[in-house]
Amino acid sequence: MSLLHVLPKILEESKIEYEQTITSKFILKEAFLEKSEDVINIMAKGDNLAFIKFLMAEKEFKEKLNLVYIDPPFFSQSDYGMNIEFPLGKEKAKVKKKAYSDTWESGMEGYLKMLCTRIFGIKDLLADDGCLWVHLDWHSVHYVKILLDEIFGEANFINEVIWQYKSGGTSKRHFSRKHDTLLFYAKNKNYYFNGQKEKSYNRGLKPYRFKGVNEYRDEFGWHTLVNMKDVWQIDMVGRTAGERTGYATQKPEALIERIIESCTKPGDLCADFFSGSGTLAAVSNKLERKWICCDMGNLAIINSLSRLAGQHMEFSFYEEERLHEIFDFNKNITLNVKHSKINVTSDLIQIELLDFKPELIYAKGLNAKDENTMTMVLKEDPLQLVEYWSVDYHYDGIVHKAKEVFIKSSKGITRKSKSIISGSKNISIRLVDSFGTSYHKVIDIKEVANNEN
Ligand SMILES: C[S@@+](CC[C@H](N)C(=O)[O-])C[C@H]1O[C@@H](n2cnc3c(N)ncnc32)[C@H](O)[C@@H]1O
Repeated sequence: MSLLHVLPKILEESKIEYEQTITSKFILKEAFLEKSEDVINIMAKGDNLAFIKFLMAEKEFKEKLNLVYIDPPFFSQSDYGMNIEFPLGKEKAKVKKKAYSDTWESGMEGYLKMLCTRIFGIKDLLADDGCLWVHLDWHSVHYVKILLDEIFGEANFINEVIWQYKSGGTSKRHFSRKHDTLLFYAKNKNYYFNGQKEKSYNRGLKPYRFKGVNEYRDEFGWHTLVNMKDVWQIDMVGRTAGERTGYATQKPEALIERIIESCTKPGDLCADFFSGSGTLAAVSNKLERKWICCDMGNLAIINSLSRLAGQHMEFSFYEEERLHEIFDFNKNITLNVKHSKINVTSDLIQIELLDFKPELIYAKGLNAKDENTMTMVLKEDPLQLVEYWSVDYHYDGIVHKAKEVFIKSSKGITRKSKSIISGSKNISIRLVDSFGTSYHKVIDIKEVANNEN
């Protein structure tokens, strides 16, 4: 049957699926660098439909989000990988791993149903003045526009923004496909909008000198400032760009910046439920907005956690209970912990990572060449596989509150922590490897002190 005839069924069935989905439990796994109790920023690992239900039922976020931006799979019928890099001797070794899949056995119908189910939930989470941006391309945008018109109402369609870029492949059989389409919808007519300005260059790049018109000059020539149009030319994230995480399909911060600045005020709450490498979170933080992000991919989550913790952000990390795993730290990691009393109130605590035997459960499915590379990396220095590790010096037995985070850089991972702490009883250490497996250990300071005596 033609897809046109199936669209009403897709809408109906997705609405029912959304209403009947029961929330699954999300566990607070790690609180990153939090100084105050009222931090809202959340990164979650899990299926976004379950997470949307969790936000609604357990966290009372119904009608609280000012902006939702989503950049879901596009129905490209491809899988996306990323290179994980390790130093090996004087060289850099690369191992390719699947980041996420955009292949749909259930065809366009199944894809549209997945998206619609979540969009019903997003609409419920949006505040009265809130809006939704859906980032797609030619594969599915025209069908999604029709469905969004039904869900949000045609009157609430605000803009179709074209993001034009340069990089990528070409073909001799068609014009080069060099744009994505972003659909911008408001919850209702009360939506917040702060239009941006852009440069409009004068003909011949010379001054017009019209009365009452402000003109400016830059390295290209004379221009005026006009209301921003709906075609945006923004470069993709370059190979050497500082913001590059290496995650497949990472979007440029400049693009997300424009959206956030146009649709929110400082202090507002922004969300992305297909958050990949955490671009929306990184930009929201820079622009002093609060944020909520979710992704179900391991590589997406480790990229996001190291990106955000590396920018010293305060946030909570939740994980869907069904994905929660506990690994035996003692079997996998060798540590050296030293404790010495400095004075009546202060202790010096030194923790050193000595050895690591990773559980390579997520490294499965590597090709023979990459498996060989992994064997060489493990033989040379297994600690190269540590993506980040963090320490909570006052573990309460419930939530690991990372007060110190060590993230892998081009120079490798810091192996020694050295902190002066007062009144520490239990220290909690969490370590995450390059494939996303996490390990947790609690150290009793009394035991360490007794062993040393
Ligand atoms: C196009 S990427 C997002 C890239 C992101 N905008 C960035 O700048 O890095 C789409 C993401 O959606 C995630 N995803 C797909 N289906 C999901 C689901 N049901 N729940 C949560 N995440 C999902 C994938 O793991 C992938 O990381």
